[in-house]
Amino acid sequence: MIRHLVSLLRRTADVVRKTRPFPLPTAAVTFPENFVWGVATASYQIEGAVKEDGRGESVWDRFSHTSGKVKNGDNGDVAVDHYHRYAEDVELMRKMGIKGYRFSISWPRIQPSGRGPANQKGLDFYNQLVDALLEAGIRPFPTLYHWDLPQALEDSGGWPSRDTAYHFADYADIVANALSDRVHSWTIFNEPWMFTTLGYLRGQHAPGRTEVDAYLRSTHVVNLAQGLAFRAIKNRNNAARVGSAFSMWPCQPATNSRANREAAERAHGWQNLWFLHPAMSGSYPSVLQDVNDTRLGVKSGDMEAIRSPFDFIGINNYLRTIFAAAKQRRTPIDSFHRFFPVETKFHGVHRARTDIGWEIYPKALYEIVMRISKDYNRPPIEITENGCAYNDVPGFDGLIPDQRRIDFHRKYLTELARAIRDGADVRGYYAWSLLDNFEWAEGYNQRFGLVHVDFQTQKRTLKESGHWYGKVAGENALPAG
Ligand code: FCB
Repeated sequence: MIRHLVSLLRRTADVVRKTRPFPLPTAAVTFPENFVWGVATASYQIEGAVKEDGRGESVWDRFSHTSGKVKNGDNGDVAVDHYHRYAEDVELMRKMGIKGYRFSISWPRIQPSGRGPANQKGLDFYNQLVDALLEAGIRPFPTLYHWDLPQALEDSGGWPSRDTAYHFADYADIVANALSDRVHSWTIFNEPWMFTTLGYLRGQHAPGRTEVDAYLRSTHVVNLAQGLAFRAIKNRNNAARVGSAFSMWPCQPATNSRANREAAERAHGWQNLWFLHPAMSGSYPSVLQDVNDTRLGVKSGDMEAIRSPFDFIGINNYLRTIFAAAKQRRTPIDSFHRFFPVETKFHGVHRARTDIGWEIYPKALYEIVMRISKDYNRPPIEITENGCAYNDVPGFDGLIPDQRRIDFHRKYLTELARAIRDGADVRGYYAWSLLDNFEWAEGYNQRFGLVHVDFQTQKRTLKESGHWYGKVAGENALPAG
C-alpha cells in the first residue's frame, strides 16, 4: 500500500515537472549568522567640497584638472556633495537596512600637505559621520587610503619615496587616535596594486607617471607603509581588526598548456598577492623576473616591518583575467608592454558585459575566495567591493528598474554563498557602490550605485536594486526566485 502511494506520488511529481509552464522557485540562498551586508564608497568619488574646511590638494584634484586625463574633463570638485549631505546618505542607508558602511578618509582633509598637525575640521567631519552611522545602527568601516594622496607629498616624490611611508604611518596614527574609541574594523589601503600600477607604471590614474623604476619602488614603499600603519592602528587599540582591500581577479590560463598555466600563476603572484603576501608572510611572491631587493629598494629590517598578519583579507572582485605565455621571451621590466612576460586577455569573448565593458563572470568571486582561503589557511575574508556599472536612469514614473544590477548581484552572491558552503570564512559583503559617483578616469559616465544620483540637482533616488539589496540584508538571504 505504502509502496503504491510513494510510486503514485513520484509519478504525479514527474507529470507536474514535465508540464509546468515555469520553473519552480529555487530555495533561498542563505548566509551565516552575523554576516554584514554593507555598501562601499570612497572620499574623492563622493565628497566634493575639495576646498572646504582646510582640505589640501590631492593628486586626483591635480590629475582631473589636467586636460585629457578624465573623460569629458570631469572632476571631483563637487562629486555627489556627500560632504554636505552625509546625514541624508546615512539616513538612506538606515532606511535600506544596510548594516555596514565602508567609506574612505581623505588624507588631505586630515593633513592638507600630508605632514604636520591634524586639521581639526577634517577630523570633525569623520567624527560626525561615524557618530551618525553608529546612531543609525550601521558599522563604520573606514579605509585610510583610497587613492587621494596629498599633492604636496607627490611633489616631493610620491609613493616611490620612502618618506611617504613614514608620513602615512603618522597619518594612520592621527586617524586611529581620533576614531579608535568607536571604530573597530579598519582597512589600510584600497587596491594598492591598482593605484601603484595605474598611477606610476601605466599613467592612466593619478599622478599619471609611467616610470618603471619608480613604479617598482612605489610598490615596496606602499608595502612598508601598510606594515607601519598596521602597527599604528594596533598601538591605539590592540583589539582592532585590521586588513587591506585588494583588487583580486582569478588568473586563468588561456589553455591548459604548461607555459600558460605558469603564466597564470605568475600573474596571480603579481596582480593579487604583491601587497598581501609580504604582509602575511614577510616575503615577496617570487614571480617577477629581474626584480631584486635593489630595484625594489628593500633595506634591512623592512620585511620585518612589513610583516603584519591581517585580521581579515579584503577582496574587491569584479572580473577574472586570462593569461597566456608571451610568444617570444621578452626582456622583462624595460617598458610596460615588456614588463611582465605574459599576455593578458581581459574578457571572455562571447560573454555578457556591463556598461563599462567588464565581463560578467560570477564564478570569479567563488574562485578567488576559494584560492585565498586555501593559500592562507582559511583567513577571515571581507568582500570589500563587488558591483556593476549600468547606466539606467529614472523613467517617467520616477522608478529605476535596473533588473540587470539585481541579476548581477544575485549571481555573484550565489557564488559567494557556494564558497561559504565549501568552507570559506567570509564575514561580510560591501556592494560597490551606495551612490552613483565619480568613476576615476571614466568621470561620471559609469553608474555603479544602488542609489541613482542626478548629478545636476544631487537628488538621490533608490533604484530597484537598492530596494532588492535592502531586502537581502533584512532577510540575510537571497530571496527565492
Ligand atoms: C575599484 C575601485 C573603486 C571603484 C570600482 C568600480 O577598482 O576601488 O573605487 O572605482 O573599482
